[in-house]
Amino acid sequence: MHCQYFAPTDQGADTFTVAMPKLTFGRGCLRETGSRAAGLGMSRVALFTDSYLFDSEYVHTVKNSLRSAGLSVAVYSDVRIEPCDDTVMKAAGFLSEDEFDGVVSVGGGSVIDTAKAALIYALYPADFVDYFGPPIGQGRPVPGPVLPHLACPTTSGTGSECTSLAVIRMNQLNTKFVIASPHILPDEALIDPACCQTLPANVVASTGFDLLSHAIECYTARAYTRWDRIDDPAKRPLIQGANPWSDLAAREALQLVGQYLVRGVQDAADVEARDNLMWGATLAGMAFGNSGTHLPHALSYGVTHLMRNVTTKGYAVDSPFVPHGISVIVNSPSIFRYTAEAAPKRHLDAAKLLGADCRQATPAEAGEILASRIIDMMRATAIPNGLGAIGFSAADVRALTDSALRQKRAIANAPRDSNATDIENLYSGALAYW
Ligand SMILES: [Fe+2]
Repeated sequence: MHCQYFAPTDQGADTFTVAMPKLTFGRGCLRETGSRAAGLGMSRVALFTDSYLFDSEYVHTVKNSLRSAGLSVAVYSDVRIEPCDDTVMKAAGFLSEDEFDGVVSVGGGSVIDTAKAALIYALYPADFVDYFGPPIGQGRPVPGPVLPHLACPTTSGTGSECTSLAVIRMNQLNTKFVIASPHILPDEALIDPACCQTLPANVVASTGFDLLSHAIECYTARAYTRWDRIDDPAKRPLIQGANPWSDLAAREALQLVGQYLVRGVQDAADVEARDNLMWGATLAGMAFGNSGTHLPHALSYGVTHLMRNVTTKGYAVDSPFVPHGISVIVNSPSIFRYTAEAAPKRHLDAAKLLGADCRQATPAEAGEILASRIIDMMRATAIPNGLGAIGFSAADVRALTDSALRQKRAIANAPRDSNATDIENLYSGALAYW
């Protein structure tokens, strides 16, 4: 496709793939779960959720809908925030012990990702690392399809209902890695924004910044034409770079999150804002599921690996804990100041879509304008002001860098190359924002 950002290159890819589940969006759509699941051929359903949603009206609605449609249901609620190898294998055991013919997941990214990964190990048992890419595994492909999966997100950030990825913590290495396979893309998603009505402000903020960074990272990612050409479609990586499809979804997501994030955090009764954030999260999921993220997500894994002196209230998980969206956004302004040089127009466009005044802006100012707009939004929503506010200091920069360097493909998906020294500088620049 010939446009300036996607200009053909000699050995570069000349095709990109778009993979999407069937989506239903709107208030009350969880009531459709039964007929949707039956339509996917389910009769005995494993319903994945977590202990906090277990008794919620959303899970009751889903259960009632499934039973009204004549399906039988067994609930699995032993999902932890930030799923790990142990919790995934336990969930896979639950799936293996019964005659399930489908999975419905109701929850945030942790629940949906647990369901995706458990489906793999229940059907295709293997050593846990086998399906992960280097440096921890050999990237063995998932051998074939898994059971039908209907995903119902209850937070406005993850986008996991639209992706073929699951993020899992490896206990032995104490850090997170991505498992990727086209077979774990959910078959359908029911996205009911009413689920966001009761979310606490800090959860709307952290998930909202996850969606915001998904959208900017997709829009500013290395162009797909700058990745190597892959002739075997089965080998085309899911992190394939920015492309016209991811642009389309990311631009709209940026406009929505720019308009509604602060409102949605500050006022739980602002239905318009919270509904639009849910749609923005879905759009950003559509984008990053088909392009991949880059440095902000790669560097976030260093943060969750090494966090220690931080307590986050309002989450059902032991300290130390940093919500995913915060681990991403604390580094983002520093990173976009660095990456803008390689794609100034895209960084400026992103800032404009987020609501920054770019009328007098020059390309050289793109990184600073985008970073400033994000920092303003972080302040308006009480997000920690950089790594220093979540327990890190300059003494941690080297270790953070060593940890992040393992996320090779995501680092390479940035528009600008970076080595270990560059990444140290990015973390140093993220300690505090002024
Ligand atoms: Fe994310």
